[in-house]
Amino acid sequence: MTKVITYGTYDLLHYGHVRLLERAKALGDYLIVGVTADGFDMARGKINVQQSLMERMEAVRATGLADEVIVEEYEGQKIDDILRYDVDIFAIGSDWIGKFDYLNNYCRVVYLERTAGVSSTELRSSSHTMRMGIVGDENELPLMEKFERESHYVNGVSITGICVPDASCLSENLKSLPLVTDSFMALLKEVDAVYIISGLASHYKQIIVALQQGKHVLCESPIAQRVAEWEELTALAHEKGLVLMDAIRTAYATAYQRMLLIAKSGRVGNIVSVDVSCSSLRPQQRKGEVTNGSLCAWGPNALLPVFQLLGVDYDSKQILSLFNNNNTNDDLFTKVSIVYPHAVASVKVGKGVKTEGELVVSGTTGYIYVPAPWWKTDYFEIRREDPSQNKRYFYQLEGEGIRYEIVSFLKAVNGGKTYAYINECVSRAIVSLIEDFFDKNVTSISRFAP
Ligand code: CTP
Repeated sequence: MTKVITYGTYDLLHYGHVRLLERAKALGDYLIVGVTADGFDMARGKINVQQSLMERMEAVRATGLADEVIVEEYEGQKIDDILRYDVDIFAIGSDWIGKFDYLNNYCRVVYLERTAGVSSTELRSSSHTMRMGIVGDENELPLMEKFERESHYVNGVSITGICVPDASCLSENLKSLPLVTDSFMALLKEVDAVYIISGLASHYKQIIVALQQGKHVLCESPIAQRVAEWEELTALAHEKGLVLMDAIRTAYATAYQRMLLIAKSGRVGNIVSVDVSCSSLRPQQRKGEVTNGSLCAWGPNALLPVFQLLGVDYDSKQILSLFNNNNTNDDLFTKVSIVYPHAVASVKVGKGVKTEGELVVSGTTGYIYVPAPWWKTDYFEIRREDPSQNKRYFYQLEGEGIRYEIVSFLKAVNGGKTYAYINECVSRAIVSLIEDFFDKNVTSISRFAP
């Protein structure tokens, strides 16, 4: 019996796939099809595959051409499979010519002519391209630039406009977008969704207008200054069937998500403490520029693992801040201690102060250590009393997580929430804590000048 094996993602199965499977099958008597696992696709840069592994495997099975469907999970697996299943022929489309010649040491390698004119990539982009606009100001130029650049990695999204008060500060790249305007309404008219990176004070007004106009919203966190505003915005989004999502890049990074799942599955026992820090120095401030303090700038990021791991039902909290100027809310450094019935959390944020930006999740059988800068991490460790039991995890982070954030937003807009999605309880808890900070409505708040 001649055994043939072939591999692919088989997203939105199309006739190019079927033709390939038919020809691969015809090369022998028994066809094994390896379908790539979601994590494996992410790692090799295919980031917005639309269908789940189960759906893709089912579609391949439904062709009736495969005698066996297996999952491809790791690099180097092909050699393993060829040996394990005693495979005679490895077949793959001609887009891979030369790439798998090394498998000739294990079986015969056949490249089959790729069917012209169809691909999953094309199907993903043509299904419906979401037109997205960016609204912000000159303080956020680098982020606008990155966001636009990263959007090119995501099929099905196109940045079609930007709204800023003064377009002269934009890069040539942003200036060349189809619409550059200082009118938010003009932008909203031309897009399906908007990414808001303007100052916190503008969020509420901009979100409400965007939602009223029927546009989905991705907004830098916190999405509002007050819980009452947050509730109004969320209710409006629900009523209109629109997505309102916190833009915290870290939440969508693979390593961060895996760390959460590992912690939640009890790998370090019961979690008793989450200790997290984020800090940065300030760029030269321009005259008259209003700067967000450290809690506004870093709070959402730093509070994310606390609320996602320990929940939002804490008993009490204490906020201690060092202020830049006694009369403002511009904190240089803030330490938040949060007390839960069975755990504690400590959050340190600094803007204009530097500290080690690490994350430690302590449990009853070990701890998770995420080195600085943990919010951009691709790496973490589980550490135990006996160091020989330590485990290291690495997951490639592309584009600081922005492209994964865009993929999650697009998936939410298309009707399916991903597990990376920041749920509403967490979004609300972030706003609530920051509101308490503004209102000094906490156990204790200290003002001490540097
Ligand atoms: N294939 C083919 N003809 C096409 C598309 C794909 O013969 N028009 C083959 C590929 O060469 C591969 C298999 O089908 O052997 C699975 O390919 P996959 O990467 O899943 O499909 P693509 O449509 O190429 O996906 P993408 O656009 O995401 O790269």
